[in-house]
Order: sequence, then structure tokens, then C-alpha cells
Amino acid sequence: RRSWAEPWKIKMVEPLTVTTREERQKALEEAGYNTFLLRSEDVYIDLLTDSGTSAMSDRQWAGMMLGDEAYAGSRNFYHLETAIQTYYGYKYVVPTHQGRGAENLLSQAAIRLGDHVPGNMYFTTTRFHQEHAGATFHDVIIDEAHDTASLHPFKGNIDLDKLQRLIDQVGADKIPYVCLAVTVNMAGGQPVSMANARAVRELTARYGIKIYLDATRAVENALFIQEREEGYSDKSLAEILREFCSYSDGATMSGKKDHLVNIGGWLATNDRELFEEARNLVVVYEGLHTYGGMAGRDMEAMAIGIEESVNVDYMRSRIGQVRYLGDLLDQWGIPFMKPVGGHAIFLDARAFYPQLEQDQFPAQTLAAELYLDSGIRAMERGIVSAGRDQVTGDHHRPKLELTRLTIPRRVYTQAHMDVVAESLKAVYEARESTRGLRMVYEPKYLRFFQARFERL
Ligand code: F0G
Repeated sequence: RRSWAEPWKIKMVEPLTVTTREERQKALEEAGYNTFLLRSEDVYIDLLTDSGTSAMSDRQWAGMMLGDEAYAGSRNFYHLETAIQTYYGYKYVVPTHQGRGAENLLSQAAIRLGDHVPGNMYFTTTRFHQEHAGATFHDVIIDEAHDTASLHPFKGNIDLDKLQRLIDQVGADKIPYVCLAVTVNMAGGQPVSMANARAVRELTARYGIKIYLDATRAVENALFIQEREEGYSDKSLAEILREFCSYSDGATMSGKKDHLVNIGGWLATNDRELFEEARNLVVVYEGLHTYGGMAGRDMEAMAIGIEESVNVDYMRSRIGQVRYLGDLLDQWGIPFMKPVGGHAIFLDARAFYPQLEQDQFPAQTLAAELYLDSGIRAMERGIVSAGRDQVTGDHHRPKLELTRLTIPRRVYTQAHMDVVAESLKAVYEARESTRGLRMVYEPKYLRFFQARFERL
């Protein structure tokens, strides 16, 4: 393998804080053992999320100076609209402040009370907005996605039989759209194949059911298709992305990931009626339809980021860095979700702490232990993130109990990855004497963000 060195060099640096174990213990207690409640100042290497944490390029920063901060009709909006139309291929664009703003608009515009929305595993905010608009969510991802050891190359794929069964059961008229996420964050950043997208299109077209992508990491998905799917090794990421989107009717987007910016999002669609409805709603929730909660400079940076994101050298180095960390962990037998996905390593907290019940929050515990050891911040993606069943009130109990080490784009070096791996080794060696947590405060919505815990 040729090495995957970054196709850029560093022009500006930001110092990191190193803390003592005593300081971290205090900070963690103050944060209720929830890494979302830590102050960033108390964090050394921040792998909480790849969302809004990218380093922008010099071209993007230059674009920030070209911000047209007009309330209406900003020049930067038209640049952004053109970039989305060119690279994603949709006709109509509604800008939003970030991904969940777009999810809100789509859910409100498309869902009626009593509807059903199938998706390839849930995402927290996406499912929230679907349920909030009156729908029931159904996970129709292939079974392999729930198995941390399965080496299926496209673990994000939709299971066509599951989708067919749902259609037979509830009726096509109760399914406003299929929500197809690429890559699948909660499954470990796992990709969806082009063949699967095409097959889902063929199946749903027979019933007049639409497909909306969660395109948040669709460019990362394109690299997996280029690497793993027959017939695509000679196609550019841009070509793959365009074809993939062509099997859908529109998309919601969190620009904070693939677009290499710190804020922003959009909803795009080919459906004129839905567009009109969403453009009506955007002024209530986000801002005028030519800024949707973003400053002109934010839209400019995003338009430039879209172009940069389809550069294959960049994408190889980005995903190559995630794989590098995975290889180190593998050498030491640390359990994580295989194969390595696009944006993160997902540690298998059940395998890490077999002595803990899921109600003792193994993934939350692992995130806390890692922070204590070295100041590295990870995120729970297990029972806390899954929330409660709206009907029974009991915890959703996801098969996957994961702790996510999310790699920001263009931010950390290979040496940082070495430090992360070494710290995890220390936490792994101390695993047998680790105790779990008890939840002492639970917010009503998206509880993982603000829940508080105590050590058992
Ligand atoms: N869809 C996916 C697949 C996401 O990963 C996210 C955000 C969103 C939608 C919502 O977008 O944050 O811009 O409102 N994921 C972040 C994460 C928060 O850390 O995984 P947003």
C-alpha cells in the first residue's frame, strides 16, 4: 500500500491543554461523568465528534472574507446552491443552520400523524424529528450491522426483505419516504453500496415511496464504493456521489461533517411541492430561505468545502487516519467494530467490560475511564444515546453498546493517534477492576447530551 500522507501542510496551530489526573477527576465529577458536559479547556485530544470540528483550508478562510451579509439574496447562497446542485444533483435547496434543522423541515413537510419511516439504523436527531412529527421509526438495516465482528463490506445496507415486510404490513401510503443514511453513523460509519441504493430505488418506485438521503457523510461513503464495489474503481468521488444521489428524491445534510465547515446544513429535493412547503417552514424555524440560519461567510466556506471534500487524496488520508488508529488497537486486541468505518472507531464496550450489565452503562463508563486516563474525550453510543421507547417508557436496548472515538477532519496528526491508542491500552489493561455508572439525572429529549451519572 502507498502511504496516505495528508495532501496539505499546517499553516496555523492551536495549543492543547495537558491536565493532571487529579484535575481530570474533578472535571469529570463536575460533568456528571458525561463527556458532553466537560469544558473543552479540560480536554487534551477531542474525539467527541467529527461534527463542526474540521480545520478549514486557506481557501475557505479566504472565502470567509467574501461573506455577503445581506439579509436577503446573499451572493454566497447562490454559490452554495450551485455547489449542491453540481455535486449532489438535486434541483431545489433550502439552507438550514445545521443537519437537524433540515431534518425538522423534512419531517414536518413530509410526515403525517400515524406514518411509518424506515431507515438503515436510527440517528438520534433524525429519529427524534420523525417521531416528533408523528411517525414511527423502523430499523431496516441488514442484520450484519448489529454484529460488531461481521466483516460485511457494506454493513450500512438496507435489508430489502425487511423493507418489503414493512410495506406489506403498514401499506405504502403510510410510508412518506425511506430515510437512507450514508455512511451509517450509529453502525460504526459503515457504508451503503451503490447496488443497494439502486435496489432500494427499484423496490420503492413500485409503490411510489420516496427516498431521502441523510447525506451527512456521503462523500466518505463514495470512497468505500470506489475501493470495494466492482465497476467503480475508475470513477471519481464526484461521479460516484452524483450517481448515488440520483437514486433518491432529496437529502438532508449536516455540512458540519463532509463539507469541512464548523456550522451549516441544508435540505435539498427534486420535489417542487415539498420544496415549497419546506421553504415556507424555513422562515419560521431557521431564517430567510437564502440563509437559513447561516451567515453569508458560513455559506461561502461551505460551498468551497464541498469542492474540497471530493478530492480523493484528501479522502484517502482522512479515512486512512481512522484505519491507522484501528490497526494499532487491533495489535493490542482491543475490541472494536469491524471493519473500520469512515469517521470513527467504535469501541465495543460490552466486550470491553463483560462484567457490566447494559443498565450500568458500559459505553458511558469507557468514555469516562479514557478521559480520566489521558484527557481524551470520546462519546457514548449505546443505551444512553438510544433513549426510551415512547410507548413503554423503558430504555431502548440497542444491540450495539459502543464508545466512539471520532476523528475530526484535518485536525490531528498520526502522533496524536499513537497517544490515543496507548491510553486505550492502559484503560483496557485496567478493565477488570472497572465499575459501572448509575444515571442520576435524565433529560426528556436526547438525554445523552445532558444526562448525569455517578460511579456505582
Ligand atoms: N445525521 C447524521 C448521520 C449525523 O451524524 C448528524 C450529527 C446529524 C444527522 C445531525 O446533524 O448535528 O448538524 O444537526 N451528528 C453529530 C455526531 C452530532 O456527533 O455524530 P447536526
